[in-house]
Amino acid sequence: MLTINEIKNLKNKRKIIALTAYDYLMAYYLEKAGVDIILVGDSLGMVFCGYKNTLPVTVDDMIYHIKAVERGAKNTFIVADMPFMSYQDSVLSAKRNAGKILKETTVKAVKLEGGIEIIPQIKALIDIGIPVMGHIGTQPQSVNKYGGYPIAGNTPEEIDKLMKSALELEKAGVFSIVLEKVKAKTAALITKSIKIPTIGIGSGPWCDGQILVTHDLLGAFPDFTPKFIKKYDNISSKIINTIKKFIKDVKNKKYPTKKYYF
Ligand code: KIV
Repeated sequence: MLTINEIKNLKNKRKIIALTAYDYLMAYYLEKAGVDIILVGDSLGMVFCGYKNTLPVTVDDMIYHIKAVERGAKNTFIVADMPFMSYQDSVLSAKRNAGKILKETTVKAVKLEGGIEIIPQIKALIDIGIPVMGHIGTQPQSVNKYGGYPIAGNTPEEIDKLMKSALELEKAGVFSIVLEKVKAKTAALITKSIKIPTIGIGSGPWCDGQILVTHDLLGAFPDFTPKFIKKYDNISSKIINTIKKFIKDVKNKKYPTKKYYF
């Protein structure tokens, strides 16, 4: 399993690979395939629970899923998302909730969405020994503020704010920063300007690593496909067709045959 320092040292050596998991089996597959980091993302709210966005996810939901993931990937560095309103309101909330996650699971780090506005929370966590991954650009927990998931880094003011946030996050001590849906040239500029790795999602090829929601790359999440997703397969239609075969067999009395009963 990689350590925080080994992850930082991958910058300028090779690309960092991070993917999401919410359950034991997916975590097992990701470890077998050799990813560097597994994120138990609050995207589980949409992908696993079927909510419209990530806002309903609670700290207890996260802990339930992290426990399943850690059983499936005992040798992979796991990061836990801090869900909406588990840190935004105060430094105390951030410490209590991140502390609860680290006490009740074996994750080594948490991820918080936000830049300059949450530096006090991030600094407080790092000061008490909780490693933090930053997350700037599109922030899904702010979906109601933006009315969706807009591209970040469009105007000089936005670029300036993103750059300031990245520099402040680095100064606060985060070990890496997720750049979500940041214009590729801005993401490249940020990547060059900081010494810690950037991990892009929809932010172009010049980030130090890439992260995706695993179900998206598998073609397993039919509800919504952002432009930056390359579907490497179409698992959802394979699953549906396989289940259809089972239904047909049972209806036609072709299952179970003698081979499959005692
Ligand atoms: O919740 C999530 O899955 C994320 C992404 C960066 C993949 O935050």
